[in-house]
Amino acid sequence: MEEAREAVAVALGCSPHEVVFTSGGTEADNLAVKGITWAARDRRRQVPHLVTTAVEHPAVLDPARWLAERGDVTLAVVPPGADGRVDVEEVLSALRPETALVSVMAANNELGAVNDIAGLAAELAERGVPLHTDAVQAAATLEVDVARWGVAALALSAHKFGGPQGVGVAVLRRGLPVVPLAHGGGQDRGVRSGTFAVGLDAACGAALTAAVSDRAELRPRLVTLADRLAGAVTALEGVQRSGPSDPAWRLASHVHLLLDGVDANALSLGLDAAGIAASGGAACGAGAAKASPVLEACGLQGTPLRLTLGWTSTDAEVDRAIDVLTDLVPRLRTSRGVAAEVR
Ligand SMILES: Cc1ncc(COP(=O)(O)O)c(C=O)c1O
Repeated sequence: MEEAREAVAVALGCSPHEVVFTSGGTEADNLAVKGITWAARDRRRQVPHLVTTAVEHPAVLDPARWLAERGDVTLAVVPPGADGRVDVEEVLSALRPETALVSVMAANNELGAVNDIAGLAAELAERGVPLHTDAVQAAATLEVDVARWGVAALALSAHKFGGPQGVGVAVLRRGLPVVPLAHGGGQDRGVRSGTFAVGLDAACGAALTAAVSDRAELRPRLVTLADRLAGAVTALEGVQRSGPSDPAWRLASHVHLLLDGVDANALSLGLDAAGIAASGGAACGAGAAKASPVLEACGLQGTPLRLTLGWTSTDAEVDRAIDVLTDLVPRLRTSRGVAAEVR
């Protein structure tokens, strides 16, 4: 258990005492968002202000909205740019004297947009405001360094870097007051009670160590694969790559595309039938595809297609995806046109 904690601390540039194993990214985000603002409320005896962004994962946005609905915080939700990135100045302009926490994700799960967490943390440190970052999507391909970034809290999920599902990490810097979500036996400095999930935590530590040592080799390999995939598909008519245009601010693993005049369901069925696991990036409830709040917040239109690559991705798989999309996209457009004419 302690070896796993040590391994995570070494990988993330923090102290083992600051590592809390959780059931995943969702719990780690909830612990930071609720725990830090509740502690601020108790300390200051006033309703704290919480700043987050419109592109956060629901693991951050939902607890933030829930806290605001209960009157536990006042909430500011900062809009992103069209590329999905969050502007440091926009976040700073949302601050108030009673701001107790800012939560901005390190990298967006849909667009793969990477934020300047170190730059934001430095500005916030000057103002005495702690920063939590959801680094769930970042850990596999970006260097996540708690000390260099200067964040007060950080969330990870092991299955995004090769570990098992159902385990994650909350980093909570020393001296940061946090009200626990679960009370009980007082494990982990009382921040997270309950018997440790030793097997899962050990696997998480081992996977993160492996991911960190593979990252330098993995990243350029994924950039080459992703650019080849995006280049071939955007050569088709009416297909554009979304997210940041500067590769420095884009996750190596993500290719996010917007397609004109293609039905989202037909596209997803066609790709599935061809054995390609892809996502529209939209939350699906009861079988009905809903528009993605992230894309709405960015003001993006078109049918979204999110293709992600990982450490197992091969050249042959990218070739296959290119072949399938090159065949499918024009056909779906034609069939839409025919349907429109018949009507
Ligand atoms: C950015 C981000 N945050 C949080 C989560 C939630 O993590 P978990 O499923 O481990 O609870 C995810 C999961 O996909 C994610 O992409």
